[in-house]
Amino acid sequence: MSPTGRHALITGSSRGIGRGIALKLSEMGVKVAINYRQNEAAANDTLMKVRERGSDGLIVQADVSRLEDVRRMFNQVQAAFGRLDIFVSNALGEIFTYYRPPLELTPEQWDKAVDSQAKAFLVGVQEAARLMGKGGRIVAITYRPGGLTASWQPYFAQGSAKAALDSLVRYFAVALASRGITVNAISPGVTEDSVLNSFPQEAQDGIRAWHRAGWTPMRRLGTPADIGNAVTLLCSEEAGWITGQVIVADGGASLMNPDFPLEIQRG
Ligand SMILES: NC(=O)c1ccc[n+]([C@@H]2O[C@H](COP(=O)([O-])OP(=O)(O)OC[C@H]3O[C@@H](n4cnc5c(N)ncnc54)[C@H](OP(=O)(O)O)[C@@H]3O)[C@@H](O)[C@H]2O)c1
Repeated sequence: MSPTGRHALITGSSRGIGRGIALKLSEMGVKVAINYRQNEAAANDTLMKVRERGSDGLIVQADVSRLEDVRRMFNQVQAAFGRLDIFVSNALGEIFTYYRPPLELTPEQWDKAVDSQAKAFLVGVQEAARLMGKGGRIVAITYRPGGLTASWQPYFAQGSAKAALDSLVRYFAVALASRGITVNAISPGVTEDSVLNSFPQEAQDGIRAWHRAGWTPMRRLGTPADIGNAVTLLCSEEAGWITGQVIVADGGASLMNPDFPLEIQRG
């Protein structure tokens, strides 16, 4: 499937990584539906940048943690595009409303995390599959360490929801394989121009210093364009045999060994 002449929906693409994905796909000639929750100005700015790249699209407001919003969003996309070739589930969710350690998290906060990640993907894929023909592409933006580690305690709900998302990717990959639709996840490393910029400045500075000091072997953080490139690769015709995978795009950070001090790991 060549991305040119295709239609994509990217949730949470008004800003951050989602915007990076929208811009890279639009550079490949893909028309994009730009979903946002509240920041309409940012969504319009993304659409303007899409048009500067010679493509086009529309903006669609929807809170992906609300089922009725997700269904309305897909109906709007169907009305505008008639069909869908690429669905990227990227929206962050209102993470700071459920950013609590395990012993403090309320069941309501748990539901918000799961609804914005796993349930949004469940319903989103069911809706996307309805609009897709053979050779469609579905990509979830996950965070693999969220499901494998536990030291970042307030990330508990989002990390658990991301683990469920990774599992959904595998089940849907099998469910849609006979239709030639691939379902994969990209797990970005820490990325600039994203939710990172909402962290306290001291935390941001510490994270950047840590990665530049060598924890990321490429000695920089990722960019939304890096993740847009990774998604674009998965949306190429040549990626048609790759399905059900969580692909880490992090400049090599996941190759580091936490058992040993950084100093003795550098080449
Ligand atoms: N940043 C990183 O370092 C990093 C690393 C690994 C994985 N990720 C993943 O990458 C994805 C994007 O994160 P980001 O850092 O790019 O976030 P971001 O810059 O804060 O942007 C968040 C985007 O999601 C939208 N959004 C938030 N809640 C939503 C909801 N309930 N319904 C619909 N849209 C919603 C926002 O819309 P509005 O503009 O309307 O608010 C915005 O477009 C997330 O899934 C995150 O877990 C990020």
